[in-house]
Amino acid sequence: MNETLKAIHSLKSTHGNFSSREISEDDLKLILEASVQAATASSCQNYSIIVIDDKAVMKEYLDYAGSKALVFCVDFTRLADLAKFLDHEYYCGGLPDFITSATDTALAAQTAAVAANSLGIDSLFTNSVHRKDLDKLYQKLKLPSKLCFPLISLILGYSTDKSQPKKGRLKGPGVIHYGEYHRLDTDELEKMTNQYDDPEMKMGFTPNESYKRYLDWFFCFWCSQFKDYTEEITAMLKKTDILK
Ligand SMILES: Cc1cc2nc3c(=O)[nH]c(=O)nc-3n(C[C@H](O)[C@H](O)[C@H](O)COP(=O)(O)O)c2cc1C
Repeated sequence: MNETLKAIHSLKSTHGNFSSREISEDDLKLILEASVQAATASSCQNYSIIVIDDKAVMKEYLDYAGSKALVFCVDFTRLADLAKFLDHEYYCGGLPDFITSATDTALAAQTAAVAANSLGIDSLFTNSVHRKDLDKLYQKLKLPSKLCFPLISLILGYSTDKSQPKKGRLKGPGVIHYGEYHRLDTDELEKMTNQYDDPEMKMGFTPNESYKRYLDWFFCFWCSQFKDYTEEITAMLKKTDILK
């Protein structure tokens, strides 16, 4: 495996156990410079990255605290301001723009995680902001109330426990489709179910009296504990004028 592939395969999450060690300003700069190198549609980079230092703010608004947190927002504000500045009519937002810009934003976030990993810095992606009071977050971070939406956060720091295993990833039929889409048949669904329970997958799940299989636990317990926040997210996207 070459160095790039090794780095990609070694990426793993630190689920909140960040030490008090700070990442250096130089490393943060390298991560941010790498992040914005991600592919972007029409050279727009319709995102903003909010760098958070304050651990109390991270904990309260993002649920996790590391050395730094990067909040990646889909953001059309800059583009709208540029259009106005140049006296151009330009409509920003709408579902197609959101899909494209959310893709740009996620690519920038993943590039930041890869860059951090290359510097020996651990990370965690979290969409915890969507489980919180979004209005409060907008106020705290002074996010523009229009055309800006926090998509994903990346917590950066140093893990206290490097021995935590990386979770496995599904592979094979049903994930990668060659030439045309292939819907899993019953045998393949059984194999897929078993993939989750393969100890090599390191899903952190041990069969117990209540749940024999990972997916039983996933569908019956894990999913049921989260409140459905579809309405809040949709309302916020409409409030920002990103969705009409
Ligand atoms: C969109 C997104 C949201 C996530 N949110 C959380 C989260 O809130 N808490 C958490 O512990 N991990 C979160 N994760 C990290 C995943 O749990 C992690 O990637 C997965 O367990 C695989 O582990 P690995 O990255 O170590 O291989 C999130 C990942 C993504 C892509």
